[in-house]
Amino acid sequence: MSITINDLRKLKARKEKIACLTAYDATFATMISEAGIEVVLVGDSLGMVLQGQSSTLPVTIEHMIYHTQSVARANISSLIMADMPFMGCRSLDQCLDYSTSLMQAGAHMVKLEGGSWLSEMIQILGRNGVPVCAHLGLTPQSVHKFGGFKVQGKEEKAASELIEDAKALEQSGAALLLVECIPAPLTKKIMQAVSIPVIGIGCGPDTDGQILVMHDAIGAVLGKPAKFVKNFMQGNTSISAAFKDYVNEVKSGTYPGPEHSFKI
Ligand code: KIV
Repeated sequence: MSITINDLRKLKARKEKIACLTAYDATFATMISEAGIEVVLVGDSLGMVLQGQSSTLPVTIEHMIYHTQSVARANISSLIMADMPFMGCRSLDQCLDYSTSLMQAGAHMVKLEGGSWLSEMIQILGRNGVPVCAHLGLTPQSVHKFGGFKVQGKEEKAASELIEDAKALEQSGAALLLVECIPAPLTKKIMQAVSIPVIGIGCGPDTDGQILVMHDAIGAVLGKPAKFVKNFMQGNTSISAAFKDYVNEVKSGTYPGPEHSFKI
């Protein structure tokens, strides 16, 4: 039996950090699950790390189905979360069709990028048995709106909007929140505002769990890694050992350290 959303709630309740990584294929899905990763994200980051695209926008629902199926076949016990691709929620009907495809491909949860405007979709998905993770902050599908992959929520107004979005998403039934690249003090405020588990990337140490793109975690990075990235291959001689180290450092609170966080 795989980890469930109830298990994630229990981990939060007993203040045990949740370790998450992306995976896109069968081999890494097995290795990640064996390392004790609770949530494996079939992220649309596959557009960048597998396909060589400059953003996640070209990723299609067919790509997401293919990679979700590959991960699901090999998963041992992680909760599988799959990304809704760019513009997947442009209509309620399309969001329901795409979510059906992702769940039938083997996902246990879908991740939608966006704020309170997703409330109706999240409610309807919930009524149909689809748990949703809402992704806030630096949502990569909005890279062109943001003018680049930039830290979000630095100004007071933007920070307040993110807090309000987080509350609205929880109220509409989101089971999980994922926050990306926001200043650590804002993360703390979001943590106080909601009671669902919150997973962070580039948001400091205060979230209930951490996620990284798998390639970043093993130093398979072309160019300069982002500030929040740590290469867990350093000091390890196998990828499996690096994944286990990542889990241990997330669980012990060693990763992320202050050097991986953004200030206001
Ligand atoms: O697509 C992805 O890998 C993601 C993570 C960066 C959280 O959304």
